Amino acid sequence: TKTEDAADGKSTANGGGVVCQEGGVTILRPTDLSEMLAAGTKEVHEKAENTEFVKDFLRGRIRKELFKLGHVALYFTYSAMEEEIERNKEHPHFAPLYFPHELHRRDALARDLQYFFGEDWENQISMSPATQRYVERIHQIGRDEPALLVAHAYTRYMGDLSGGQVLRKVAQRAMKLPPTGEGLNFYEFDGIHSAKAFKQLYRSRMNELELDTNIKQNVVEEAVLAFQFNMEIFGELEEVGKTLEDDVLDAAPAHDAHGEMQG
Ligand code: HEM
Repeated sequence: TKTEDAADGKSTANGGGVVCQEGGVTILRPTDLSEMLAAGTKEVHEKAENTEFVKDFLRGRIRKELFKLGHVALYFTYSAMEEEIERNKEHPHFAPLYFPHELHRRDALARDLQYFFGEDWENQISMSPATQRYVERIHQIGRDEPALLVAHAYTRYMGDLSGGQVLRKVAQRAMKLPPTGEGLNFYEFDGIHSAKAFKQLYRSRMNELELDTNIKQNVVEEAVLAFQFNMEIFGELEEVGKTLEDDVLDAAPAHDAHGEMQG
């Protein structure tokens, strides 16, 4: 029924969809890639929202050590993605989505890692197994099936633009990061004034890509895969979290009523 809702609600305004008969019920399947992605990842998005790592993060239960490891995973992921985006920036199946100034996160993540690990940050980080699998897939897609790169860009950048400001606030408070924004560059999109307007532009650019219906379906499947790669990384971080001492957990007033006043 969720697919039906998505099609019913929006496809008229977007030029309609494909009418299908399913179990005697007439439904309208969206043909706009943005609608197909939203509908096709709805279930896995809910799953991602309900992972322990993400729930803990939203509650402000962020261990700094875990946050740093999460940032390391993001750094390797965005480095791979943006390398493949550069390779394909003139490919007709990606070119309309090429917004390096507005979206690219690699340099912002590098600055954050330098803040957290110091000058020698590059020698202190390495790829976790789940990150390696994600990165390997991104490179394979970038080299062999560039149309599917859309799925990876969509999953990360649209997600960042949707939740970034909330996550930034939570992270800053929980880890008491300086209000100057050091360590939080990942969440700052200096080239984007309105996330809402930019997401609309990005959706319309996705919809203008000339892709056959079956390729669009492959893009949706690849986006589901991208969510799953992200969840595998969350799973790894949860495992690491279990091995960390409780007192690494920042902002724990239950243990120390004066926590706010100490450094
Ligand atoms: C969109 C919330 C986690 C990827 C959204 C939107 C909300 C939201 C409210 C809709 C914004 C809008 O329509 O303008 C959340 C919350 C999360 C979470 C509360 C965690 C508790 C994630 C994760 C990913 C992700 C982990 C992927 C790694 C996306 C994407 C969209 C999106 C791709 C765009 C959907 C579309 O418009 O097609 N999220 N999200 N989200 N989120 Fe999340």
